[in-house]
Amino acid sequence: MNNHTAVIGFPVDHSISPSIHNFWIQEEGLKVGNYQKISLKQEEVKSFFEKCLNENYRGLNVTVPYKEIAFELCHSTSQTATKLRAVNTIIFENNKIIGDNTDPIGFKNSLSNKNKVQYVEDKKVLVLGAGGSARSIIYQLNLMGANIINSNRTEEKSSKIKKDLNISLEFCDIIDLPSILGELDCIINTTSLGIGGKDNDLIDFNLLKDKSYVYDLIYNPKKTKFLINAEKEGHNIQNGLRMLIFQAAASFEIWHGVAPKINDKLIESLE
Ligand code: ATR
Repeated sequence: MNNHTAVIGFPVDHSISPSIHNFWIQEEGLKVGNYQKISLKQEEVKSFFEKCLNENYRGLNVTVPYKEIAFELCHSTSQTATKLRAVNTIIFENNKIIGDNTDPIGFKNSLSNKNKVQYVEDKKVLVLGAGGSARSIIYQLNLMGANIINSNRTEEKSSKIKKDLNISLEFCDIIDLPSILGELDCIINTTSLGIGGKDNDLIDFNLLKDKSYVYDLIYNPKKTKFLINAEKEGHNIQNGLRMLIFQAAASFEIWHGVAPKINDKLIESLE
């Protein structure tokens, strides 16, 4: 039986995906091996996939910086992964490497808590950053009918997302952000600014509409300075933990055919 699962990346020491998947494997009583974390060098990724095909692997999660390389190595990819040209979930089936991407659905489902979707659907949403995470978020926001504004240090990356996804995407220079804040319903930080407790001063939250929705994809620390500042001004805040859990849930269901339970016990064990 093919049953091993793991996350690959570099580095992966910080990954909490094993805690999530192993919790569900136990809860569901699955007779499968433990979910592992495996650190690989770039030149090792291809041979590792071959090893997985030959050994007892059911699938892999792929994290930074290998989502694009994984896409190139797949024999076939889902519609979402094809559109994003990035893969976060691999399935080994019939000696084939199949790629999917559960980041967009993970983001969408993370909004189900207390109906946060109301801040996004057909609303004006600012996405800070234009890296890999921003691409997944922008893809999903577009499907949800959001009116998206993207801001990033490097405008070319934003233009590339717009072109690759073939969507309408407004760009706002960081310096011009104060002039648009009053029109927004939601801000999503996808930049790495704030990881490890560092500052992220891109936004003056005082200029936002009352009780806007402020989402930071970072989950370590649990409350970034970005979220602390937003909360001080009375906005609704959300960190990246729910998206991490929901993208994991989607991968888990693809591999094991079971939708895992997402309950407070799991969330508390991760916080
Ligand atoms: P991920 O896969 O997590 O999205 P990434 O692709 O490396 O990671 O993207 C990181 C994002 O954080 C980018 O948008 C980057 O901006 P650039 O495209 O201009 O490089 C943004 N970022 C990182 N450090 C930053 C900083 N000091 N100020 C502003 N933006 C920053």
